[in-house]
Amino acid sequence: MSNKLSFLSLLCLVAAVLSQRTTHHYVTLTSKKTKTISSCCDIENIKTYDFPNILKERVPDTPTHATVKEYILSRLHQLNQSRWSITTDVFTDQTPFGPKSFTNIIATLDPHVPKRLVLAAHYDSKYFKTGVFLGATDSALPVALILDILLTLDDKLQSRELQDHSLQVILFDGEEAFKTWTDTDSLYGSRHLAELMNSPSPYDVEGRTGIEAMEAFILLDLLGSVDPHALFYDTYPAGSKIFERLRKIEKKLHQEKQLVEHTRQHFVEQAAHGYYKIQDDHIPFLNKGVPIVHVIPVPFPSQWHKLSDNANAINWNNVLNLKKIFTLFLYEYFHLR
Ligand SMILES: *[C@@H]1O[C@H](CO)[C@@H](O)[C@H](O)[C@H]1NC(C)=O
Ligand SMILES: [Zn+2]
Repeated sequence: MSNKLSFLSLLCLVAAVLSQRTTHHYVTLTSKKTKTISSCCDIENIKTYDFPNILKERVPDTPTHATVKEYILSRLHQLNQSRWSITTDVFTDQTPFGPKSFTNIIATLDPHVPKRLVLAAHYDSKYFKTGVFLGATDSALPVALILDILLTLDDKLQSRELQDHSLQVILFDGEEAFKTWTDTDSLYGSRHLAELMNSPSPYDVEGRTGIEAMEAFILLDLLGSVDPHALFYDTYPAGSKIFERLRKIEKKLHQEKQLVEHTRQHFVEQAAHGYYKIQDDHIPFLNKGVPIVHVIPVPFPSQWHKLSDNANAINWNNVLNLKKIFTLFLYEYFHLR
């Protein structure tokens, strides 16, 4: 009897420890706090500064790509440099047009902290023979949004209550295929970085690899366009809890009338595990067991991979709504004050 009991309590202890490791504890914000935070969100800076500076042709290994890369790095260097580690992962790979140089950009807050939430997007743009492709939604806007949120929340992130969790931002190069999407002509940056982080590397922490340190990986792509019917689906079971949190935040902000021109819920309720498994920068990390949330609209914006994916594709009300949702999510995830 007593043996059985102690065996049971041991089991309970093991279960408790396991659930500790897999369950993230969020704070839930009151309506008042939700309103206060979301009413402070604005998009002036993204609209006038970050987005226009990123909205240039960004084909890897070209001069305008280098200009944008330098711009992104200069913005990341405005974060508190005694807390953030800003690094680049530079490499050469074979492409259908010969060898090209690529640069992933990684910003890690408190790099000694063992659990990381990753926010990611790609900053390269697709090569077009027929004209200048700016890739406003693909992914100038997501990159601008991430930079803006980081710089706005830097103080609060530094003084977060959840000090054993940190934030890592990854801006990938070479997501796009130069010719036709294949396993070797696409995802140049994410394939390289996932391999690098899967073995001992500068991204290790406390004996764990950069991959093992990732509690979750949220990828933003094709965001900011006008299509009110585009939906986000909960595709990967391991990322469901985060997706659910984003969905609830969108719903709460809607109820509190904090979203503009918001005619429907975009983060959809019913899980679509296994559907819409879209090829994107999360795949090399998914394949290494990292929990994924892929925030990409289905259907894709009507301007997708057309020259019309330019500044006119952006709906700034939609961008403001996205900024509010992700800002509140970071408050809840990191217990910001
Ligand atoms: C930057 O971080 C250091 C170390 O935590 C802190 O002492 C300093 O006040 C911070 N600077 C700013 C501008 O927040
Ligand atoms: Zn694309």
